Amino acid sequence: MDKVKLQHLLSEMTLTEKVGQLVQLTPGFFSAEYGDVITGPELNIDLGQVDVWQTGSVLNLSEKATIDKLQTEYLAQSRLKIPLLFMNDMIYGYKNVFPIPLALAGSHDNKMLEAIGAFLAQEAAADGVHVVFTPMLDVVRDPRWGRVLESPGEDVHTVKAYGSSLVTGLQGNFSRNAKIDMHHVAACIKHYASYGAVEAGREYTAADLSQYSLLNTYLPGYLAAVEAGVKLVMTAFTVVNGMPASVDNYLLSEVLRRQANFDGVVISDYNALNELITMGYSADDLAAAKAALTAGVDVDMMATVFANGIVRLVEQGALDVEYLDNAILRVLNLKNDLGLFENPYRGFDNNANEEEFAHLSIQATTESSVLLKNEAVLPLNPDKHYALIGPFASSPLTLGLWGSINADFSRVKTLDYSFKSAGYQYEYAKGYSLLNEKVLPVLGDMFKRVVDSNQSSDAQLASEALEVAKDADEIIFTLGEDFLQSGEAASKTDLHLAANQITLIKQLHGLGKKIIGVIYTGRPLVLTDVEPYFDALLLVWFPGTNGGLAITDMLFGKATPSGKLAMTWPRSVGQIPIHYDSLPTGRPLTTANANERFVSKYIDSPNTPLYPFGHGLTYHQDKLTCELIDITYQANTKSVQINCKVASDGQPIEDVLQVYVHQPRQAHVVLPSLKLVGTQRIKQQNEHQVTIDIPISELAYFDNQGTQHLDSGQYTFSVGLSSANLLVTSTVAIEG
Ligand code: BGC
Repeated sequence: MDKVKLQHLLSEMTLTEKVGQLVQLTPGFFSAEYGDVITGPELNIDLGQVDVWQTGSVLNLSEKATIDKLQTEYLAQSRLKIPLLFMNDMIYGYKNVFPIPLALAGSHDNKMLEAIGAFLAQEAAADGVHVVFTPMLDVVRDPRWGRVLESPGEDVHTVKAYGSSLVTGLQGNFSRNAKIDMHHVAACIKHYASYGAVEAGREYTAADLSQYSLLNTYLPGYLAAVEAGVKLVMTAFTVVNGMPASVDNYLLSEVLRRQANFDGVVISDYNALNELITMGYSADDLAAAKAALTAGVDVDMMATVFANGIVRLVEQGALDVEYLDNAILRVLNLKNDLGLFENPYRGFDNNANEEEFAHLSIQATTESSVLLKNEAVLPLNPDKHYALIGPFASSPLTLGLWGSINADFSRVKTLDYSFKSAGYQYEYAKGYSLLNEKVLPVLGDMFKRVVDSNQSSDAQLASEALEVAKDADEIIFTLGEDFLQSGEAASKTDLHLAANQITLIKQLHGLGKKIIGVIYTGRPLVLTDVEPYFDALLLVWFPGTNGGLAITDMLFGKATPSGKLAMTWPRSVGQIPIHYDSLPTGRPLTTANANERFVSKYIDSPNTPLYPFGHGLTYHQDKLTCELIDITYQANTKSVQINCKVASDGQPIEDVLQVYVHQPRQAHVVLPSLKLVGTQRIKQQNEHQVTIDIPISELAYFDNQGTQHLDSGQYTFSVGLSSANLLVTSTVAIEG
């Protein structure tokens, strides 16, 4: 439909039809038969004069047949035949699930991330979904917050690369105002802005951060996705610097709409506009509606505010209708960009290619699993007999919270299944229970179906595991967090393993055999006390549908784990927030002054984390050498080019080279001691020259008054294998 026709459509709409386009409800509001996935409070919404059949979009309905039915029923009732938009929380997978975003980001493989986006789009579109609420681009530095699982981590460069790649994959490779073809869907980034900075990691609390860190750390990830052409932005529930993010004129009108030129749809988060009243910002629906609409929000997700508030505001003459019309046009444009006016059933002819998924998901798990420790015990010897212990090895519930919502659990390949099908010699024992009935009320009962039904006591399970371990050559112990213990609304103050896991680890250690730990988790854990009991530790996060197959291949050396930590693993909760790019101090701790009092340190802990950002061993990493050939400033492309010679003594290596810039001296403000500005995944056996280009825009920063700078001068760069393992360092002059 062309723009003139869209304008005409707008002119034909009644007030309630207009407002309806800006309201999003869960499917149960249309009819109980459609069911609901509830991710917020259960609401009894009163839509005032707006009819439910006038609402413009639906939250979290999936399945072709159901979407087909609702769309058909809706269009039959709709006067102007404006199709419904179906939006869904398919964050890192649908029926087929990839590893969690915190894992994927550590792959630093933008091509693969694009392919994952494209696969997800294909699967979603095939079932009639038009918009997916992904990627989540909240920078995170506090693992107490359960939602770190959904995030690409603590680092700005990583978040930008992850977000742009996913958006490109999901929407197709196109220019900013292009249409989206039937094989792709519209992406919605979230949660704008800085939801990841919630105080003390407690869910739904406020974030208070300086202009300096908002501009330098928290905003760039979202803005890079806007640059990549993302069609929607979701606001955060959060109060940011005293203003609810959903009505913040600075964040929405100034930064997003004016500076970044975003003309797509802004949607509030679940019930966030009602919560403006609960948190004491707005007096009623009218005030909340006016604040949100005039700030730039277009769609109200699961609240009564737009439905009730806007109609009355217009009737009272208290709202400039231009705000309303602009919002509706943006929604109609989105429907038009998706081709919905031509075909409300777009995408139904797609077929997600299962073979492609098998390949891509195994690659994703391998490239995002992090080998934290390896004392010459991995890869395993296929001639030995292993004890495989711990419930993660046999449970399909290893997809993380969002991955579990739509997943087809029958497709999950567990470690137990994969060992068996590959014919390795092993015996499995459960060893301990993850959850029991007692903890469920706290975690929410949306996943009642997954409660551990094995009621054996910890003592009995442990003694069975010890029996199995006694007969084995070596022990593989799966450990971590249940998937219900991370994700949304799963903030924690204690990041240690559960007591029954620690007890069993110690008992197994008493047998004097090698122990290999395989960690399943959605967040960094505190493993300081148990780490010494393990000879190797492989972090697989929540590894996705084909996780077991990939982990088996990694354990037995058919592939090397090659993921890097996208978030620092602390030694203790007391070190949090901890991240690699902290600002320098005038009293740095050094080996020479370690015994002095008045330096920047803890008196009861080292400053360093247990595992630093960017860490991740690979097989043969000890053989990897990197020699700097040259580093040059390319004025024509405004980039720095680094040439290195990488060798590995003839051994196959797969790794990620990481380029860090050191703090420039005498900038307008103090900048991080170290900052990641580029990465390069390498896979080779023989000596190779590797070229890495760093756009100098990566060196720009904002001062504490909000002015952006890109200084000319001498810059020092290092290439390394983690933020704490720099291999070569050199300096180059740059024209800013
Ligand atoms: C979450 C969003 C999600 C929405 C819809 C909210 O609770 O914060 O990330 O997209 O629910 O399910």
